[in-house]
Order: sequence, then structure tokens, then C-alpha cells
Amino acid sequence: MDVTEAILKRRTIRRMKPDPVEKEKIEKVLEAGRRAPSWGNTQPWRFIVVQDKAKIEALAGAAGGQPQVADAPVVIVCCGVPDSFSRKMHREALKQLMDLGVMDWSDEVLDNVILGSEQFAPYHLGEQVMKIKAGEQIMIAAAYMTLEAVNQGLSTCWVGAIAPNEAHKVMNLPEDLFVHDFILLGYADEDPNPRPRKDFDKIMFWEEHQ
Ligand SMILES: Cc1cc2nc3c(=O)[nH]c(=O)nc-3n(C[C@H](O)[C@H](O)[C@H](O)COP(=O)(O)O)c2cc1C
Repeated sequence: MDVTEAILKRRTIRRMKPDPVEKEKIEKVLEAGRRAPSWGNTQPWRFIVVQDKAKIEALAGAAGGQPQVADAPVVIVCCGVPDSFSRKMHREALKQLMDLGVMDWSDEVLDNVILGSEQFAPYHLGEQVMKIKAGEQIMIAAAYMTLEAVNQGLSTCWVGAIAPNEAHKVMNLPEDLFVHDFILLGYADEDPNPRPRKDFDKIMFWEEHQ
């Protein structure tokens, strides 16, 4: 399946069959997330695959009781590590790119220009921004995963309406991780039409906004 086909076929699926999902397929979906781009290649994400029924039900509770969560055979809990944007960890990620020749910066440029600037290094803007930045990268990986799921004959439902602290407790996570959202994964038990989108010419422009 090519990318265009996967994009056009993807739908949010809220009714899934109870059938389990093959481990190889779940791994393909996770690999798509691992391959996603991220700011400075910081990869501030962690993905936890949950198939245990009791835990999934507890996660549904953390998602305001949304029934599609409780009924999903697989829930991928998408977590973030804000510290990935600390000066130290951001530097390590960039240094790796420099060592591989991806960036041709000197150490001085890295330390003073890149890491010295709030434009390039979110840690200047505080922990809240670091957390937001981590969340942004997670969403890129999650989008990749939803498309690979289609390629694997699977369906997804993105669940962002969650109580992160409750989900954190359910997952018994360490303090330096936060829960950003869930991706439900399974075989569709419905075949909905594409959902409406704004007209192309209302949201897309050439050269200037009109
Ligand atoms: C970040 C994000 C969070 C979402 N959160 C939820 C959610 O909590 N519950 C839900 O049922 N759908 C959720 N959705 C699915 C959207 O409602 C859905 O993508 C939108 O209605 C368009 O439908 P489509 O995905 O089939 O094109 C979320 C989607 C995104 C991208």
C-alpha cells in the first residue's frame, strides 16, 4: 500500500473486534513511530503496549469512561520525557548528529549559538514548554503509527481526552514520564465514511493568505 492510499483509507475507528492483534503487526506499527522525525532528533517519546484487559479498563477510566477504550484489544500509551529537551539531553542528541556528519557545526556553535538560543533550544523557555515540545514530537510518531496500522490492515482511534495523572497512576510510571495520549489499535468492526474536512481553498494557499 502506498502512503497516499493509507492516508485516504485511515479513519478513526471506535468499534473494534475483540480479536487480539498479532505481535508482528504491533511491532511494525511501533517501528513506524520509532522512524518518525523529531526536533533535533531528541525522540522524547516512550510507547507502552497494553493488552491486559483489567489495565485497559482502568485506562478507559482515565479517558473519562470512553467506551471505545475499554473495548480496544490494544492500547498504546504514548508517553513523553520532557527532560529530552534539557540542555544536557538535547546536546547529546545534536552531538550524535554532528558526529555522524549530519550537522557541520563546531562545538562552539553547538554550545553558544544553538543551545544558547531560545529559538533552537526549548529548555530556555522552561519546563512547561519542554513538555509541550515533547508532546508535539509524540504526535508526529503517533501519526506515523496510525498510517502504518492501515498498511497492516488494522485501525486506530486516537484518544487525547484523558486525565494524564490518572493514566500515569494506572501505568505506575516514573516521575520523569508523562502520559500524552492513547492510540487504540485493533481490527475494525465498522466501516465509516470519511469524516468531513474543510474545503481545500479555505485552508490551503499559494504564496500568500487570501
Ligand atoms: C490529538 C487527537 C485527539 C483525539 N482524541 C479523541 C478522543 O479522546 N476520543 C475520540 O473518540 N476521538 C478522538 N480523536 C479522533 C478525532 O475525533 C478524529 O480524528 C476526527 O473526528 C476526524 O475523524 P477521522 O480521524 O476519522 O478522520 C482524536 C484525534 C486526535 C488527532
